[in-house]
Amino acid sequence: MKPPSAPLPAAAGIGLRAPHVGEVEAERPRVAWLEVHSENYYADGGPALAALDRLRRDYPLSLHGVGMSLGSTDPLDRAHLAKLKRLVARTEPALVSEHLCWSGVGGRHLNDLLPLPYTEEALALVCARVAEVQDALGRELAVENVSSYLAFADATIPEWEFVAAVARRTGCRLLVDVNNIYVNSINHGFDADAYLAAIPAAAVAEIHLAGFTARGALLIDTHGAPVAPAVWALYRRALERFGARPTLIEWDTDIPPLATLLAEAATAQAMLEEARDAIAA
Ligand SMILES: [Fe+2]
Repeated sequence: MKPPSAPLPAAAGIGLRAPHVGEVEAERPRVAWLEVHSENYYADGGPALAALDRLRRDYPLSLHGVGMSLGSTDPLDRAHLAKLKRLVARTEPALVSEHLCWSGVGGRHLNDLLPLPYTEEALALVCARVAEVQDALGRELAVENVSSYLAFADATIPEWEFVAAVARRTGCRLLVDVNNIYVNSINHGFDADAYLAAIPAAAVAEIHLAGFTARGALLIDTHGAPVAPAVWALYRRALERFGARPTLIEWDTDIPPLATLLAEAATAQAMLEEARDAIAA
């Protein structure tokens, strides 16, 4: 499968959200790249798409999808895929990603990124669908590990082996969400470092960082808080394992001023530079 012609820089980016578009356009902050939710730009025109076209001239772009439902037993949504393909042709992103989850069945769309049962059957199904998307787009897809609050009793494969197997079987890349690994390690009681150790480093195309909210014994992946100290620590260990990788700060609820987001990105950037220096030394 063809890799993108110009990969994302191994530096820190931010998720571009509607309240910040005007400020980013006016001030062009020194951030290495931008990520947007693909579905927000499926329209054929309009001011949002026009702004994205202008920003795309100055920033490498990552298109991050939330609606493909890669793990569903329903047929792939061809209309959705066609819209993604059009947006890819228009914006020439450095990376296209989706979630390793399902969000609908029987024609009903559930507005959530639901975990898969980690079984051989689900693995075969999701790999076939990742391959189908990659064939349709004519390029690699990166798939992201999701947060979860329950596990299926029938699961036979640890989550980290499932994620690694999808990359090995399909040749897809991985978007490793370090916050999701941390959240799941607490919610399900596994060793986050064993998870990192199972991930094939060469497949890692991007890393996500975000904030969670604690509710009782559960950590909820709200994307509405600063990155937690334990997640920064796990990120440092991820960089030791994978090397410097494009890293995104995601913030989707209680969106802070742009300066707060940029400060989080600057922290990630400093850690990326430390990781690069450590490898060079
Ligand atoms: Fe993420």
